[in-house]
Amino acid sequence: MILWRDAMSVGSPALDADNKKLIELLNSAEESVSGESWATVGAVIADLQVYARDHFAREEAVLAAIKYGDLEAHKALHASLSTKARLLGEKFAASATDDARRTCGAVLTKVLNEWLIHHVLKHDMKFKPLLPKKVPSAVPVSGLSPPTGLPPPTQAEQDAERRARQEARNKDVEYQLPPNLAHLLDRIEYVTPELPPPATGFESFDKFCEAAIWRRVNKVLVFFQRHNPSLALELPPFFLASPEFAERFRDAVGKLIIPIIWESRQIRMLATSFNWADEDTDSFWDHVTKPLEQCILAGWAQGWDDLKLVEVKRSDGTRVMQVKDNTKALREMLLPSTPAAYDIPKVGNREIATFKSLLDPANDWSVYLNRAWRICHDLYEQEKDPRVFQQKAREGAFRDGLLNTFDSFPPEWTDFLVLACHRVFPRITTSFLESFARNLGRTEAQREEYIPYTIRYLRQAREHPDITLRECGEEAEWQAKMKELSDYLADRPSK
Ligand SMILES: [Fe+2]
Ligand SMILES: [Fe+2]
Repeated sequence: MILWRDAMSVGSPALDADNKKLIELLNSAEESVSGESWATVGAVIADLQVYARDHFAREEAVLAAIKYGDLEAHKALHASLSTKARLLGEKFAASATDDARRTCGAVLTKVLNEWLIHHVLKHDMKFKPLLPKKVPSAVPVSGLSPPTGLPPPTQAEQDAERRARQEARNKDVEYQLPPNLAHLLDRIEYVTPELPPPATGFESFDKFCEAAIWRRVNKVLVFFQRHNPSLALELPPFFLASPEFAERFRDAVGKLIIPIIWESRQIRMLATSFNWADEDTDSFWDHVTKPLEQCILAGWAQGWDDLKLVEVKRSDGTRVMQVKDNTKALREMLLPSTPAAYDIPKVGNREIATFKSLLDPANDWSVYLNRAWRICHDLYEQEKDPRVFQQKAREGAFRDGLLNTFDSFPPEWTDFLVLACHRVFPRITTSFLESFARNLGRTEAQREEYIPYTIRYLRQAREHPDITLRECGEEAEWQAKMKELSDYLADRPSK
């Protein structure tokens, strides 16, 4: 949530009032998009179009009055924002599925964030110094000279005046940061892969059902594929984060699991009564009958359970885990093309349980995951990499937010959310992961119960001293940047 601050003032009370309204729209867009309240999202888009028309007209009139040199270029920026708002309105009105609405919602929050950060806080700020200043109320009435012969101001008065000047400067200084600090105005950027629209037009129910299963699973996989290309990580991504893994996994599911689903005679019967002509791979799960849904899920679970390793007793009394041929085939199929592509442990029962948890016909997990991500993202920015226009979060808020998400998802996934944060957020370093892990058990063995993949990752990281070195260097750079910023704000430029 973004709050209005005086430093956001463009120097005109009317335009500031408009910008406060823009922040309201931004906050209600973020809330309604994450809560999937589509009626509110539609209302925000409609309000935004009216807002753009009124605010831009008002601002352009002010700029014309002060004979602003860049008026034409600024008008062009306004025209482009108005067009974006209009096109978004048209696209949203034409959105027939929740997935299409979700895409519009994501575009809406992106457009609004850019609008505030790039347009208001950068472009609009350029005309601020040119606007006529408000007349301070304490100014002497014209025609009356200030009384002469007053004693010179005392030291305390001079100090108070200096403090007031300093405070006034601090309020505005954030938006005139020197170029090397200017990026502190930008939100952290990373790649969030998007799925293509849901598919239709399948030649058979089998093919359609398989595609619908894959779409549900892929929504979760794609969530974990987010990454930050500006972070050069030494270790390969965990398997769930890799698009190459997703491809191999899809093949394995097609060969080992889908046939088990179709073995059931009941599913064949139920399928004939399901009218799927008008459905797509998303709406399939909204309209599939309960018995059919349960049949699909039962086949899916059966397929994975059949692959589990079983404990057998040898003649000498010792017990070993026996690996079936199909499980060996699964292990083969899920191996990366090169070790750098992704990291996967030897597939055992834990991994099989993870794969099984990826399909849940009753829940579109991607919605909940994205909501949890939003919270992690905001807490990260507020606590670890504060944007100048945001409220600061208390220490430990990010860690606690992450721990809170643990109960919301299948227990097999919590690890992946932690590792996704590490792959995206620059200051979620391996040393953060080490201290985070300590919250989850007194010994490494206890921790491994909760977050086996994080512990696996940390074991690899401990063998690479260059990782710690790089992270220390980056942390020192970050601290220096923060010091420079605080010095700048305190008007004590560092030497
Ligand atoms: Fe503006
Ligand atoms: Fe503007």
